[in-house]
Amino acid sequence: MGRVVAIASCLGMLICTASGAAQPGAAAGDRPWLNPSLSPDARAKAAVEAMTLDEKLRLVFGYSDQALTEVSKVPDDIVSPELKTYVVTHLVKGSAGFVPGVPRLGIPDQTQTDASIGVRNSFIPSTALPSSLATAASFDPEVPRAGGAIIGAEARATGHNTMLAGGINLAREPRNGRNFEYAGEDPLLAGTMVAALINGIQSNRIISTIKHYAVNDQETLRTSLDVTISAEAMRQSDLLAFELAIEKSSPGSVMCSYNLINGRWGCENDYLLNTVLKKDWGYKGFVMSDWGAVHSTAPAANNGLDQFTGFCCKEDKPWFAPPAMKAALQSGELSRSRLDDMVERILWALFAKGPVDDPVKVAPIDYAANAAVSQRAAEESLVLLKNEGGLLPLRGVKSIAVIGGHADQGVLAGAGSSDVTPLGGDRKIGGHSYLPSPPLDALRRELPKTKIAFDAGADHTAAAALAAKSDVAIVFVTRHNSEGSEASLTMVDNQDDLVAAVAKANPKIIVVAETGGAIYMPWADRVPAILEAFYPGIGGGPAIARILTGKVNPSGHLPISFPASPDQLARPDIEGLGKPDGTPAAVAYDEGAAIGYKWYDVKGYKPLFWFGHGLSYTRFALSDLTAQPADKAIKASFSIRNMGKREGKGVGQVYVAPVDWKKAGWEAPKRLGAFAKADLKPGKIQHVELTVDPRLLATYEAAGNNWHIRGGQYDVSVADSAATPAKTVRVTLPDSIWSAAHAGN
Ligand code: BGC
Repeated sequence: MGRVVAIASCLGMLICTASGAAQPGAAAGDRPWLNPSLSPDARAKAAVEAMTLDEKLRLVFGYSDQALTEVSKVPDDIVSPELKTYVVTHLVKGSAGFVPGVPRLGIPDQTQTDASIGVRNSFIPSTALPSSLATAASFDPEVPRAGGAIIGAEARATGHNTMLAGGINLAREPRNGRNFEYAGEDPLLAGTMVAALINGIQSNRIISTIKHYAVNDQETLRTSLDVTISAEAMRQSDLLAFELAIEKSSPGSVMCSYNLINGRWGCENDYLLNTVLKKDWGYKGFVMSDWGAVHSTAPAANNGLDQFTGFCCKEDKPWFAPPAMKAALQSGELSRSRLDDMVERILWALFAKGPVDDPVKVAPIDYAANAAVSQRAAEESLVLLKNEGGLLPLRGVKSIAVIGGHADQGVLAGAGSSDVTPLGGDRKIGGHSYLPSPPLDALRRELPKTKIAFDAGADHTAAAALAAKSDVAIVFVTRHNSEGSEASLTMVDNQDDLVAAVAKANPKIIVVAETGGAIYMPWADRVPAILEAFYPGIGGGPAIARILTGKVNPSGHLPISFPASPDQLARPDIEGLGKPDGTPAAVAYDEGAAIGYKWYDVKGYKPLFWFGHGLSYTRFALSDLTAQPADKAIKASFSIRNMGKREGKGVGQVYVAPVDWKKAGWEAPKRLGAFAKADLKPGKIQHVELTVDPRLLATYEAAGNNWHIRGGQYDVSVADSAATPAKTVRVTLPDSIWSAAHAGN
């Protein structure tokens, strides 16, 4: 397709089909990179050889959606008029970003959309999954995989071939405003669930981008914060989550983060990008910057950044724009071979993941079918935290008071770059987005014979009066979380007082919490039933109603611990809170790899709810535990039996603990080593066999770049939360070493 035709075919359209894509039959002998039977490596090499310098430079410099109106103001000697025209006529309006392709060679544009919860584009409706923290609570990788498959399909159907999806920063800081976009506090759980999401997305022959690499664990001063943490602690926590996820899903790209890590920017961090990601893990894809996270030309490129992404406006520093790159090449600061490597990595992803051979095309979306997938994800993920006296499921209830949380309007969603616009639009209340899936309507549908009244909860006396004359009160509490800010764990808008007032009026109170992460629950001991709904997505209302009424048996387990009080946090204050963006600041993550339940274990604290906790309407017994060394791993097996009277899904969590954890050099007394979920009819039993990865038994030793499993005795237990192991057996492991460089294992 000639360039002029390609441009004209997009003019005036909301969405362009990805231009520059390989044409059928174009794989002539002189264009070997278009031959799908060759390896992606060989194709990428061949394409690089065929490219001019200017064509290579197109691929390493990307534009944000704002470029649509802003790039015309950028001087022509930075972005040529031809390129400006190409960008504004080809980018998908409202998407996150765009990287021009090379039509002459059949290399497609990269059309980028956020994020892990669904396609974010305020001009195009999309299906919102439950937050990633919620789907991590399913403890079933099939749940994020199925979700990834539909949001990836929607990305493809809306003209995007790259999703900026795969958020995996650990919930080291429970107040982090983006915890809802991530998969919790444990590297194994997060690595497994995020890998599944990426696999689902990439099954649509598009690229997914794991992010934000690395230790971008707080939002406050995220663009100027210098995080100090040892290599050992990083490799055993935040980096281990990335390592496991990348290994299990091979994302096409990795997004480096805004912050500094040990004095080096995330996007020019030789240790993280070159040593760990590309050398030790053998990563073949490319590193793209977070939007505006680049601070130099040659140093960034030489330290591992492959693509500057998110350039917008004349105020932005054009670090990877053609003039800067050409100057760096000319001065010798940047070598031709490194530029070729950058381009080859980008091309490798485009060949390996599908965008070249299977160009994205705008197509209709079956929103109803996708909403059903999202609802099922919520039904697998919501966590029943408390259910005293079997108050739930609701049975034979004549009247219910539904109070607060805008439950008559919808369910809360998180804000920032993962804010999905649903079909028909969302409802903005107090500046926050609610997905149009009201739990009140869904409850009325589920319980047509029950009198269900609603009170907004603003007037506590009125709410308490309604609760007092109802059989049961359901109070919805909400906690808004957003990219770019932190969320206090104390509920705002006097919601704690509302719960207390209603609990006093009617002891049959159920609290449903729609939150981005953990919250304090000062009323927890006065409330018999609590359902943690996270941000439950477009099917949230029905999912909540079906769990409360027993149509669905809850089976979610917490992917984060809920602290009981502020004095249990690793840091009393968030570094830099209240200071203007960009203020230089530093934080030392002295807790190292002891995050979440590991921290509470080390300190001997009892959190309000432990990692892994979650109730069901049936009971499960975990038994028949065995464990034995298997090479450098442990093989464990156990049985889950449904002891109750109704079908349900039970989760078995295998924890490993050296008999002397301090002597073994561990960060904490125990670690999650494996987990499994089983769907069981009453009385049925399932036997499960699992392997504990050697890295979860080892400490990382920087000196030899090794994982070291200390010889000695280890307790292996199976449990339904990190609180108390149900059963424990002991194994003896020989001293052994596992190379941290993948090729070495
Ligand atoms: C966020 C990324 C996002 C990007 C593009 C940044 O501010 O940190 O997660 O992918 O914007 O929207």
